[in-house]
Amino acid sequence: MNPALIDPLGRRHTQLRLSLTERCTLRCTYCMPAEGLDWTPNRLLLTTDELERVAALFVGMGVNKVRLTGGEPLARKDAVEVARRIGAMGGVQGLAMTTNGLALEKHLPALDEAGVTQITLSLDTLRDDRFRTLTRRDGLDRVLGAMEAALARGYGVGTGRPLKINVVVLRNEEASGGSVGNDDEVQDLAALALRYPVEVRFIEWMPFAGLGWEKSALVPWTETHARIEDAHGPLAPREDAPDSTSRTFTFARGGPGRVGFIASMSAPFCRGCTRLRVTADGALKVCLFGSAEVSLRDAMREGATDDDLRALVAGAVARKKPAHDGQTISLDALASGANANRSMIAIG
Ligand code: GTP
Ligand code: 5AD
Ligand code: SF4
Repeated sequence: MNPALIDPLGRRHTQLRLSLTERCTLRCTYCMPAEGLDWTPNRLLLTTDELERVAALFVGMGVNKVRLTGGEPLARKDAVEVARRIGAMGGVQGLAMTTNGLALEKHLPALDEAGVTQITLSLDTLRDDRFRTLTRRDGLDRVLGAMEAALARGYGVGTGRPLKINVVVLRNEEASGGSVGNDDEVQDLAALALRYPVEVRFIEWMPFAGLGWEKSALVPWTETHARIEDAHGPLAPREDAPDSTSRTFTFARGGPGRVGFIASMSAPFCRGCTRLRVTADGALKVCLFGSAEVSLRDAMREGATDDDLRALVAGAVARKKPAHDGQTISLDALASGANANRSMIAIG
């Protein structure tokens, strides 16, 4: 690995999360302010060629896993083409996509052929009416259809081509900011993994500005874990990779899938972080939860050579903080925008 991707704590950055767009076909309350966002004009977003150049730059420096994110990555017309170009790069061992699933079924064959090796679907409820309240749109059937289609295509636990379901857990009585909770559904959502070879991951809600985030609506992973054990019996811990965002478990009673818990707030995993991000408008972020950014887009458009870009990346990685801002700034202050970070949807 190029030493530029190793930070002062010795963290080796092998994963790049590349956001294709800030736009999304859903409007999830926990992710996006009700009033929407000031979308970045298209001319300031990375082009297909710029996305390819950025990916190739990082892969050339030692990144071996690229995740395409958004917004909703499939809301961008050239998403399959971007996947195809990155999938063809030597050195890419994993090409993943995090998607809301609405348009996945349609694009699945092309994504598979492009070399997408992992799919993560966001799905926070199994109730039609709640899906509508939580996402401010329709589409539950389409997301479930996408899950089935991905399974039929050979994605799933134990296939070497993981299929994961992301659930952001929100406490029901307390959920605010126009939001609605789903914590009464964690047992039903976990049961998906008893029926299908999927990994269902329960995520602690993170405070980004404009979301109406409140600590009381955050459900610590230990509580979700206990509720799932109450319903489905003991969970057996698995050995997770040191840089895994989630702690994963199988059901002691058996079942084709597994569950995971992403404890970004109650048990942060910054020490093992291996992730770098590039936003749809080309900003390199060394931390999801920090405001530091370096514009690779501006550098590219001002004529930077690959050496210039590598120097910019090296500088940013060298300045990466040991832990995320949630460990040093009060969460309420973060939720009101104290660290001037972007919304999750504009990060990826
Ligand atoms: P895999 O490990 O490949 O499955 O992906 P992932 O968990 O890194 O990616 P995904 O897009 O599925 O993200 C799921 C959740 O993990 C997000 O909602 C965040 O809560 C959390 N997460 C992802 N990346 C980071 C990160 O770099 N830092 C922190 N603190 N949380 C992250
Ligand atoms: N906290 C935690 N996870 C979030 N996501 C979106 N907003 C938040 C938040 N505030 C999740 C989505 C998606 C993943 C990439 O991030 O559900 O699955
Ligand atoms: Fe890494 Fe930042 Fe996420 Fe911590 S919060 S795991 S440092 S990206």
